Amino acid sequence: MFDDLPHLKYLTMCMEESMRIYPPAWIIGRKTIHADAISNYKISAGHNILISPYALHRDKRFWPEPEKFIPERFTPEESKNRPKNSYLPFGAGPRMCIGNNFAMMEMQIVLTMILQNLNRN
Ligand code: HEM
Repeated sequence: MFDDLPHLKYLTMCMEESMRIYPPAWIIGRKTIHADAISNYKISAGHNILISPYALHRDKRFWPEPEKFIPERFTPEESKNRPKNSYLPFGAGPRMCIGNNFAMMEMQIVLTMILQNLNRN
């Protein structure tokens, strides 16, 4: 059964697109340890900042027609052409989710079971 999981390509694209539109972790917080700047925005040390995967995942610069459910955004080719960190369902950097692969596997298994059951009716 586990050998089948890598073959569930379209299902995985649907999962990725679902987490784009509704990222379970829709906001991530950080406290700055030193002053920095992002583009023209100056950030002082010791401030709490929020990063919103929800807003990022609906940014038209990276996601045309962001309100539409389009799993094809996650073909290997499309994914390769997007800027790094334009998709953050599991965060990024050293504090990125360590359960990432486990969560993806769980989703594949649960969805497959639900879909098989739906087929029976
Ligand atoms: C759909 C499922 C999941 C999502 C969307 C998710 C998302 C995230 C995100 C965005 C972060 C980073 C938080 C931050 O940067 O402040 C994170 C961290 C973390 N996640 Fe997940 N997660 C999921 C499932 C899991 C599972 C199944 C586990 C464990 C089995 C797990 C364990 C962790 C741990 C331990 C961290 C903290 C890592 C660190 O701070 O070094 N997550 N997760």
